[in-house]
Amino acid sequence: MAKDKSIFTCTECGGTSARWMGKCPSCNAWNTLIEGSSEPAAGKNRFGSVHASLAPTSEVLPLAQIEAADFERHPTGIDELDRVLGGGMVEGGVVLIGGDPGIGKSTLLLQAVDALQRSGMNTLYVTGEESGAQVAMRSRRLGLPDSQVPVLPEIQLEKILHTLQSRQPGIAIIDSIQTVYSDQLTSAPGSVAQVRECAAHLTRTAKSTGTTIVLVGHVTKEGALAGPRVLEHMVDTVLYFEGDTHSNFRLIRAIKNRFGAVNEIGVFAMTEKGLKGVSNPSAIFLSQHAEPVPGSCVMVTLEGTRPLLVEIQALVDSGGPSPRRLSVGLDRDRLAMLLAVLHRHAGVACMDQDVFVNAVGGVRISEPAADLAVMLAITSSLRGKALPKGFIAFGEVGLAGEVRPAPRGQDRLKEAAKLGFKVAVVPKANAPKKNDKAFEGLKIYPVERIEEAMQVVRGLD
Ligand code: TYD
Ligand code: MG
Repeated sequence: MAKDKSIFTCTECGGTSARWMGKCPSCNAWNTLIEGSSEPAAGKNRFGSVHASLAPTSEVLPLAQIEAADFERHPTGIDELDRVLGGGMVEGGVVLIGGDPGIGKSTLLLQAVDALQRSGMNTLYVTGEESGAQVAMRSRRLGLPDSQVPVLPEIQLEKILHTLQSRQPGIAIIDSIQTVYSDQLTSAPGSVAQVRECAAHLTRTAKSTGTTIVLVGHVTKEGALAGPRVLEHMVDTVLYFEGDTHSNFRLIRAIKNRFGAVNEIGVFAMTEKGLKGVSNPSAIFLSQHAEPVPGSCVMVTLEGTRPLLVEIQALVDSGGPSPRRLSVGLDRDRLAMLLAVLHRHAGVACMDQDVFVNAVGGVRISEPAADLAVMLAITSSLRGKALPKGFIAFGEVGLAGEVRPAPRGQDRLKEAAKLGFKVAVVPKANAPKKNDKAFEGLKIYPVERIEEAMQVVRGLD
């Protein structure tokens, strides 16, 4: 075989370069190029060694003549998982599940695959991280000592593909894609080139055989799926586990889904016997304060189709010459922007203060509807005055100080009223027009500008 030519691959965007550079030429990220990809020997198809051809050459047809077959779905019976998947595992679909170590990826997949096996589906659990005995131990712990799930402890791609071809399972779990390596490449298992290549082969196999393939992926400290963000483009569905491992609650969010809605979430609690779905999760991210405390403001965020109440905490404390701005679960750049808006439009200055904000429970909130709650929590901490009991706020705040409506504001308000919240400061456009029973007990203050919101809050002291 000809000597493989080494190239450098970006761990962020998957772009390549023939030599090492400090900055990725494609996405301009720093220090992301790593050596490790290699090109296959000349004249050989990238997939050639495994499949005779990629796929049979197909006829070119106008769309109208192509039969639009609906996807065959197999619900796992785990409701919260089916919800994020858009109704179940899709035949020939490839799902990537990412998350921190120990968050429960293997647990959930073993539960799901066992349920599918029990429903009569032919399954396969490929484990590269743990031995068969360890997987068996987990299944005992999950209360599934009689599980018939076939387990293959293997990390070599060619052998895995061979087993897939010969057993033709309806679903196969690859736990994890980072442990799989191909003989055809010289780079180490877990390297970008290996992971990408192996995932590509597995995806091909899923499409050509109709087997659903679930790839487990690890997440780096920065929160990206270790190395290959490229995997996200390749697969049909990307699910991420969220939540901190110290609490019992776990969220699964669909980041991408070719067979369903994105940003849909599933909520689980980690119990002695594995992950259990939480069907009514709206109040689990509230911490219980006996009395209201300064620096805390509850917001209603909308995750997929469900409203979720999340407590935003802020701590403003005198800082040094270059004060720090830190956020957990919220965007840090957005925090800097909100501080500037607070200063300019509401006269609240935090220039010489450290500002920390946190979304309680390890949830990540990316929607701008958190703005108002973040700003009210910061002001509350700075003033040392708690917001009233049963207070909620949401709404996007623009650079001009205007408070913009959040999508489906009334659903959010209904959820807050249902959970017994008493006072709401919300964008004017989100306030209900007429008296509605659904909002009973909730005093709603519609605001158009941030300074107006501050005034309302001061009036409630
Ligand atoms: P695991 O699924 O191994 O995580 P991952 O595959 O994402 O790395 O989950 C491991 C954690 O879950 C571990 O800390 C133990 C805990 N756990 C339970 O609390 N209850 C259970 O029934 C099981 C199987 C695990
Ligand atoms: Mg695992």
